[in-house]
Amino acid sequence: MAYSAPRGTVDLLPQQTKNWQYLEQLLRTIAFNYNVKEIRVPIFEHTELFNRAVGDTTDVVSKEMYTFKDRGDRSLTLRPEGTAGVVRAFVENKLYVNPDKLTKLYYMGPMFRYERPQKGRQRQFHQFGVEMLGLENPEVDVECMVMAVTIIESLGLQNVKLHINTLGDETSRENYRQALMNHFKPGLNELCGDCQARFEKNPLRILDCKVDKAHPLIKTAPKTIDYLTLEAKAHFEKVCALLDDLEIDYLVDTNLVRGLDYYCHTVFEVISEDPTFGNAATLGGGGRYNKLVQEMGGPETPGVGFAFGMERLALALDQMEPEEEDALDIYIMPLGQEARDLSLQIVTMLRANGFSCDMDYANRSMKAMFKTVDRLQAHFAIIIGEEEVKNEVVNIKCTHDKVQETVPLEDIVAYIEHHLEGGHEHE
Ligand code: HAM
Repeated sequence: MAYSAPRGTVDLLPQQTKNWQYLEQLLRTIAFNYNVKEIRVPIFEHTELFNRAVGDTTDVVSKEMYTFKDRGDRSLTLRPEGTAGVVRAFVENKLYVNPDKLTKLYYMGPMFRYERPQKGRQRQFHQFGVEMLGLENPEVDVECMVMAVTIIESLGLQNVKLHINTLGDETSRENYRQALMNHFKPGLNELCGDCQARFEKNPLRILDCKVDKAHPLIKTAPKTIDYLTLEAKAHFEKVCALLDDLEIDYLVDTNLVRGLDYYCHTVFEVISEDPTFGNAATLGGGGRYNKLVQEMGGPETPGVGFAFGMERLALALDQMEPEEEDALDIYIMPLGQEARDLSLQIVTMLRANGFSCDMDYANRSMKAMFKTVDRLQAHFAIIIGEEEVKNEVVNIKCTHDKVQETVPLEDIVAYIEHHLEGGHEHE
């Protein structure tokens, strides 16, 4: 019986994990520069958390969640996104008690959505996300967007646009909801069954229907921007002015509403215009959520955040020149059982001294072992035969200047240290 990975999941092999480690390190460095601290929350949460935070009528909750009963008959769900869990942890751990007033958190890890797999879209995928909780200042919305743009620029991605829009405050959203209902009511029977259900519960979700997306009623739907209160309009204008001051290029996209329910005010997406991304052109997205902390049982605390799909960022790295392989310090080549026993002691001792090293366990020929030395670009090869075991010495060959010397066992570390530091002069 041969097994294959479940549909929509992929194995990341050493060739790819190298790029992923680079990506993760870059994201951590940028987070550090923005004074954003890491939070790690569970991969699964109570199903109710996502129903409430993300919203029952969203595609994510109604069609895409991996939900299961555990042995204690609790309904649990593999997280489809990070914001709900982070906000739950923020409330549960009382992180809102913060003299700095703004709590800036980031997370990285797998998320799960039952979607149709295609390039850049998987069922298990990864997000890098940021949540900034505590302030409703437009500056914080802008900090999130600038951070998202910085990430894109650091990866050298070209032709990427920041799309922004506003959903406004609660009153704006209620006015808009009414406008949408008036707009859709006369033609409601032309829309799909899901949309008809969304109409009563949450007409905003009709706008991201995958079935009806080309329907003229959707194309001519009212725009949020026309239903803003004065305060909401002022917030958005300030966000735009701050982006202008920072000379951040953006596009006001009045069709952008995002697919999750918790948003208000600013929403944004980072979209690539490069054809290689195909249907996975939205590299990341986010926005403000001022009511979510309260809904999760915490004190009134505004928030704003975003998340990138890491597979999509990794696609960019795949197109870059592969980096040089990390070279190993030492490879040990034993000839015979006794030499192998001694090698195991030496490799252990060298690693304990902080060197990267490996040895042959497969009893291969000198030629085969030297090929491994080349593949690993090992700086030194240590060759041990029967004679060397008897005399308690090893042969150390520097692969850079090809000099080979016989060194007593007790001097190996000093010899290697000396040559790694001091270049290649051999006494
Ligand atoms: P989202 O737009 O649902 O937002 O997801 C963010 C990003 O995750 C997408 O732009 C996309 O790059 C990636 N993504 C989503 N689904 C998949 C998939 N099936 N395969 C590969 N990549 C995918 C959120 O999740 C919000 N929690 C973002 C946020 C944080 N808003 C505020 N704070």
